[in-house]
Amino acid sequence: METKILITGSSGFIGFHIAKSELEKGNYVIGVDNLNEYYDVKIKEDRLKILKKYKNFLFFKDDLNNNNFYKKLKKYFSDIDVVIHLAGQAGVRYSITNPETYITNNILAYVKLLEFFKFSKKLRVLLFASSSSVYGEKGEKKSSNSSVDKPISVYSASKISMELISNVYSKIYNINLIGLRFFTVYGPWGRPDMSYFKFLLMNKRKKPLEIYNYGKHQRSFTYIDDVILNLSKIINFYKKKKLKGVSSVFNLGNEKTIKLMDFIRTLEKVTNIKFKKKFVKKQLGDVEKTGANIKLEKNKFNLEFNHDLKEGLIKFYRWFKNY
Ligand SMILES: NC(=O)c1ccc[n+]([C@@H]2O[C@H](COP(=O)([O-])OP(=O)(O)OC[C@H]3O[C@@H](n4cnc5c(N)ncnc54)[C@H](O)[C@@H]3O)[C@@H](O)[C@H]2O)c1
Repeated sequence: METKILITGSSGFIGFHIAKSELEKGNYVIGVDNLNEYYDVKIKEDRLKILKKYKNFLFFKDDLNNNNFYKKLKKYFSDIDVVIHLAGQAGVRYSITNPETYITNNILAYVKLLEFFKFSKKLRVLLFASSSSVYGEKGEKKSSNSSVDKPISVYSASKISMELISNVYSKIYNINLIGLRFFTVYGPWGRPDMSYFKFLLMNKRKKPLEIYNYGKHQRSFTYIDDVILNLSKIINFYKKKKLKGVSSVFNLGNEKTIKLMDFIRTLEKVTNIKFKKKFVKKQLGDVEKTGANIKLEKNKFNLEFNHDLKEGLIKFYRWFKNY
């Protein structure tokens, strides 16, 4: 039987890719996005144009904090069996100067969504986006069942809050709420505020790349197709099992940690460009290292990561040049 999926943030980077992949499988997708101006709206509109070509896609340009949206969504309440909640305010550094938007768009918007679905009989699972940044400054290679109580940005505190609120709703209403801690997701149609994309934009404008923390950062770079593949494995797991009242969080990131300077060298090789570089200090809120520990997740969901950095950047750059 076809699945009816609600994807919030469907014009965002990850939301767009997951929506497209579910539409291609023949599933019915309801997308919602407020198309906000955190980054260039054109890329969000262009992603949306692609999704609108599918007959099984229905879109609402709406804000999750707007009660009117839920009035419209009510018609589909008893059909939706999966929710993938990706709408929200992303970005660690932006949360230093704009903390309030993280409370509104991450915490409050999530509570509104949960309030809408709390009595659903049809809902099998609601997945929501958390982040590797919940592990704080010394969080490298932490397993998803270790405690997270030392956030260093409001962004990360907002994601921890969402995880905690999930415990409450899942307990009271007996629903399955699964948080996914994504690790630096990259790929075609990516986010212009993220380093791999920003570096190419800076270079295009003949500006030197600003390399934070004097190049000492390390990240688990995760290619978008690997995220989509593993996300659908996790959805299938919860759809098949007759579970109720589960509240869990999982790491979803490539195990391989890459040093920022190695990342830049790979980007230079792939693009055949020698970047001008400006080394600057660590930015507030940035964690020095992220490293995905996915032992538990590999056993449970059989996760696989098939793209190495070079391969992923080749695909990203091919898209970037033609966009
Ligand atoms: N991309 C990554 O590397 C990464 C890493 C960790 C966590 N995450 C999280 O995953 C989620 C998706 O990330 P992304 O990279 O696709 O970000 P994105 O900014 O591209 O997508 C988020 C989308 O949500 C929409 N949105 C924001 N607030 C909304 C609201 N109140 N109502 C309706 N729509 C709203 C935005 O317009 C945007 O299109 C975010 O929650 C982000 O924090 C992403």
